[in-house]
Amino acid sequence: MDKQKLRRAIRAARAAIPEDERRSASVAIRENLLDQPWVQMAGLVACYWSDEEEPSTHGLVFALWKHGATVILPVLRDDDDLDWAVYDGPGTLAPGRFGIMEPVDTRRGVDTIRTAALVIVPALAVDEKTGVRLGRGGGSYDRALARVGPNVPTVALLNDGELIEGVPVEPHDRTIRFVAMPSGLVKLG
Ligand SMILES: Nc1ncnc2c1ncn2[C@@H]1O[C@H](COP(=O)(O)OP(=O)(O)OP(=O)(O)O)[C@@H](O)[C@H]1O
Ligand SMILES: [Mg+2]
Repeated sequence: MDKQKLRRAIRAARAAIPEDERRSASVAIRENLLDQPWVQMAGLVACYWSDEEEPSTHGLVFALWKHGATVILPVLRDDDDLDWAVYDGPGTLAPGRFGIMEPVDTRRGVDTIRTAALVIVPALAVDEKTGVRLGRGGGSYDRALARVGPNVPTVALLNDGELIEGVPVEPHDRTIRFVAMPSGLVKLG
């Protein structure tokens, strides 16, 4: 299956998930992550502010911030690369490009992700054998993940059923090391 076809299929399946199921899935994903000592201990966490079709990260971002972590969130640049800004609690986000909520804080630069101890990214699917991730098609996270060192845990958040075989791959596609789903956390590779 090609990328576009797979994206369409997963986005359609996500759109059909009832709101209460989406909410409980998001809570389970958050708890599975917060159970991990390496998540609890991360001082600087790169995450993202989910939109309506994705498993929600809003409670996760809030919990990490409450716990004392510095959480950086992406600011989408005009060239589709990701800049980063610090989350400073509820009410400190405003819509950016494509209406995506972004911190109003100063932009820290595309290299800020290099200093994160934990990187949490969106995905539509991840390949269970290779860890290759499929995103929504901007290549933004491929660029951002290229700056992350090999020892930093990278986690994609998925619904159950989105960790699959045969995710299409191009040379620029990056792999990730963990998938967090409602049913549990899976280490890849
Ligand atoms: N490191 C890079 N530098 C410049 N352009 C890139 C880079 N990586 C990917 N791209 C561009 O992004 C386009 C989309 O990539 P791809 O289909 O892999 O998106 P994706 O992984 O689904 O999206 P995202 O990474 O935003 O979640 C590619 O066709 C490529 O031209
Ligand atoms: Mg890609």
